[in-house]
Amino acid sequence: MGTPLEGSVRNVLDQEQLKWIFVGGKGGVGKTTCSSMLAILLAEIRPSVLIISTDPAHNLSDAFQQKFTRTPTLVDGFSNLFAMEVDPSMEGDELDAFEGMGGFLSELTNAIPGIDEAVSFAEMLKLVKTMDYSVIVFDTAPTGHTLRLLQFPSTLEKCLGKMMSLKNKFGGMISQVSHLFGLGDEFREDAIMGKLEAMKSVIEQVNEQFRDPDLTTFLCVCIPEFLSLYETERLVQELARFEIDTHNIIINQVLFPEEASDSKLLKARLKMQQKYLDQFYELYEDFNLTLLPLLPEEVRGVTALKKFAANLMTPYKPAAASASELQDESIEAATLRLRERISQLEAELERMRKGKQIAD
Ligand SMILES: Nc1ncnc2c1ncn2[C@@H]1O[C@H](COP(=O)(O)OP(=O)(O)OP(=O)(O)O)[C@@H](O)[C@H]1O
Ligand SMILES: [Mg+2]
Repeated sequence: MGTPLEGSVRNVLDQEQLKWIFVGGKGGVGKTTCSSMLAILLAEIRPSVLIISTDPAHNLSDAFQQKFTRTPTLVDGFSNLFAMEVDPSMEGDELDAFEGMGGFLSELTNAIPGIDEAVSFAEMLKLVKTMDYSVIVFDTAPTGHTLRLLQFPSTLEKCLGKMMSLKNKFGGMISQVSHLFGLGDEFREDAIMGKLEAMKSVIEQVNEQFRDPDLTTFLCVCIPEFLSLYETERLVQELARFEIDTHNIIINQVLFPEEASDSKLLKARLKMQQKYLDQFYELYEDFNLTLLPLLPEEVRGVTALKKFAANLMTPYKPAAASASELQDESIEAATLRLRERISQLEAELERMRKGKQIAD
């Protein structure tokens, strides 16, 4: 086994060309926390950053303690960090760009499951692309969903490809295809094909960008437990299958021996975690593994996120924590220790004075 790579996400920040950063993993492991911290770190070095939540159960608002919507909103206290929460499942007439196509799409959805989400994702990407952010961070929904999302560009490309070839083959027959979907004449071939063609070109571009490791990377977040290790491996393999670059794993909620104190429970958890950490290091030699400590409290609000984000840049050391804890330690205890020391010194001084008097 070689020397492990540095345990930080510095490599991601150093990759100046990166445009799309996905953060994913099992439910509740810390995806939103990590993607928010990453976005904050990126905002320090990039002209503009957008963080998008594609999880229907949005929690960016919760992490930043600020309400976000489907239009990018400036995060309080920043001049270049924006956040938005989008719903990947489209409600037919929800998207302006598809006004009048709602019915058509819902019919299409029956024929090709998932196409509505794919279209909605494509529309979102199209919108985001025109906004010209320097980097876009995705806080994704738990694993299964994320992978489906990443599959959308190819699903849609295939589907559109088929429709295009249909069009080429049968010329003006598309209206008959619309009839097949039970649609009226208002769905004119040109209008529909025009929209689909425009969408196809966005999809093609995005598909190409997602597969370019200079532009796109995927950070896996997990915790040192069996299920999470298993899920991470599944995720890494799927990403490889989709040819999406991934070389960072953030292991969250780690217990450190120095902090496990005398609690039997903590010691047992620590031992268990250590076993899985060893396996992570063994399995992912060529990954940057970043450990984040389990905190006694939640990580909420910009101040807490900023503070915790330091651990993404410089590997966490429990010693540093105990130094900072010192500040929190009751001043009383510190004063008591100082008083004791002062009285010791006074007693010593007294003895010296007495000795001096005797000698005189
Ligand atoms: N290292 C940690 N120590 C203590 N609390 C943490 C830590 N990391 C995250 N949390 C807290 O745990 C909760 C879940 O974290 P988070 O929302 O980031 O997970 P998630 O993976 O996005 O969850 P979901 O799958 O539900 O979207 C949050 O309340 C967060 O503040
Ligand atoms: Mg989340």
